[in-house]
Amino acid sequence: MKHIISPLDLSTEELNDLLELATSISKDPKKYSSVCQGKKLATLFYEPSTRTRLSFEAAMLNLGGSVLGFSDSASSSVSKGESVEDTIRVISCYADICAMRHPKEGAPMVAAQYATIPVINAGDGGHNHPTQTLTDLLTIKELKGTLSGLTLGLCGDLKFGRTVHSLINAMVRYQDNHFILISPIELKIPDYLRQEVLIDNKIPFKEVQKLEPVMPELDLLYMTRVQKERFFNEEDYIRLRDSFILDMEKMTYARHDMLVLHPLPRVNEISLEVDHDPRAVYFKQAQYGVYVRMALIMTLLGLNK
Ligand code: NCD
Repeated sequence: MKHIISPLDLSTEELNDLLELATSISKDPKKYSSVCQGKKLATLFYEPSTRTRLSFEAAMLNLGGSVLGFSDSASSSVSKGESVEDTIRVISCYADICAMRHPKEGAPMVAAQYATIPVINAGDGGHNHPTQTLTDLLTIKELKGTLSGLTLGLCGDLKFGRTVHSLINAMVRYQDNHFILISPIELKIPDYLRQEVLIDNKIPFKEVQKLEPVMPELDLLYMTRVQKERFFNEEDYIRLRDSFILDMEKMTYARHDMLVLHPLPRVNEISLEVDHDPRAVYFKQAQYGVYVRMALIMTLLGLNK
């Protein structure tokens, strides 16, 4: 049985198959409307979410399956002290597949060890968010036509932003990608990513603190929110939250075909005026998230053949 805990749990070949399936689904979603009839998806969300949980649920409903779960740990038996291990053993009796979001890094991995159904990590603390990465890869592939030879700017909270960590891990597997990491010094990427993923693999990258000067170099700009919930004190959050605000003035430095992605939710880091620019694709990205999760559910349930 396969689980998706890290973006690297799929080989590049499996990933390409999955993205291809997602593209086919996007062209004719109705064709897949009863593929998962009789199957159930459990969504176990111990941390807030809008897009990820609802896009998982929409994905399963689009496939003709059904959904059950909780969106708040306070309303589940966790509040009585139940462990993740026991919860997943029980959920395995009720559902065919599950998506779990948890504030503790590694919790979905622990769940996978006790589950008898496939477990999908829907975000674990500041660690990984593989299905957001699948969403990002599908968006890039569809709108740029390639996943290679790109200069990617990642901007904002690169320290706590799990979507950034997963995206870097995934994009280094494709040829000739360059990374420009734009953040305040306090929010630079974690050391293990810099050393083990970028330096050890001789991946070209630079770390900068200003957005404007690097704008003309970028094929993609991946904006992120400063992750308030992972800060130890409010003062630091307030000091850092508005470090980067993408507005139309800054967009004038960008190439005409640069794309702006954002996993959402946005707080302040992209001005509303940018939404009208055709290069802003973050709402399309959210739509791709449903197709890619449909493809993932089908694949993990072995219904993709
Ligand atoms: C992201 C997350 O939860 O990590 N959101 C999402 O899943 N689309 C990004 C964020 O919360 O900033």
